[in-house]
Amino acid sequence: MGHFETQDGSFWDSRCLKNGHTGWGNRLIHAYDQPLRLKVFGQLFARLNVPHFAALDFGCGVGDFTHLLGRSFVHVVGYDTSASAIQVALRQNASTGITYVNSTDRLFTRSYDCVLAITVFQHITDNQELVATLKEISTSLSPGGACIVMDAYFRRSKRDEYTYIRRYEEFLQLAEMSGLKRIESANFYHPSRRPTLRFIVYYLACRLECMSEKLRERLIRGDRGLVNGLSPVKITIFGRTGTGLPPPGAFASPVGIFEKIRRWVYSSAALRIRTHRLSSSFASSSKTSAVSYTTPVATSKSPTCGRVKLLHPVGDGTMGS
Ligand SMILES: C[S@@+](CC[C@H](N)C(=O)[O-])C[C@H]1O[C@@H](n2cnc3c(N)ncnc32)[C@H](O)[C@@H]1O
Repeated sequence: MGHFETQDGSFWDSRCLKNGHTGWGNRLIHAYDQPLRLKVFGQLFARLNVPHFAALDFGCGVGDFTHLLGRSFVHVVGYDTSASAIQVALRQNASTGITYVNSTDRLFTRSYDCVLAITVFQHITDNQELVATLKEISTSLSPGGACIVMDAYFRRSKRDEYTYIRRYEEFLQLAEMSGLKRIESANFYHPSRRPTLRFIVYYLACRLECMSEKLRERLIRGDRGLVNGLSPVKITIFGRTGTGLPPPGAFASPVGIFEKIRRWVYSSAALRIRTHRLSSSFASSSKTSAVSYTTPVATSKSPTCGRVKLLHPVGDGTMGS
């Protein structure tokens, strides 16, 4: 695993010391973007149909997503190349079942049901090093496990000293070479290239100095983050080639208000008809002692997946890549 040891975390150490985290350099963007990402990933983990036992947050930064994984998975490891980020993670995002490490020693000797890498691979600028990393990740995935990657991709690749924004096709090719098979993907908003309407309102309100904490929270709560249109940011879910793959459907759209009303009207109408039938059959035949009853529509009870409740039925509304 020599390639990991050569990784220099000093850039990220200084960024962490300056900002208190290793995320967006722009304070306003980070204040909106990180909670929105956490919201979207919280929903994603809950819908993810994998065993919810062990997870790895690769390039965990100060551990915001590691902590989130800890709510869905029994054992979680957060690894980052930056020692400063790990120190902050230990202070801010420690919890039972979560371990933070700053070294790859024994990191891949165990298997994971989920490996998460949020805006990490775009900072591994060397393709060979990236393939070596992805290979370690793919071999450590349990059968049916998922690797979730969020990164930006441009039509024409772009490189600077610590970032290499690849073409999506190039990244997919490297992933495939490393034993990862793409299951599905979705576009996530980008604050400058593909902002959501709510983010624009937020940003203008900040600039006009009329942004309250309450309004910010309301905007984030109402924002889906996942966008249909083209966006340079993508979330991709991979399985391990040649093993049981995780089923698609993790990006199923949340059930909107109209769909909720439609379901409610339908189920209550069905309920009335059934109840009516039941009462008339009771009236006509006193011999009936036990009657089984089922509603013909998806009930409000969500199916469970391991320890986690699935928020919505899986398998519909997958967004394009
Ligand atoms: C943009 S930050 C994202 C942090 C975290 N995933 C999040 O979303 O809050 C990128 C992180 O990747 C880490 N990183 C960069 N190259 C890495 C490598 N080769 N191995 C592990 N971590 C790395 C950096 O230290 C930094 O914390």
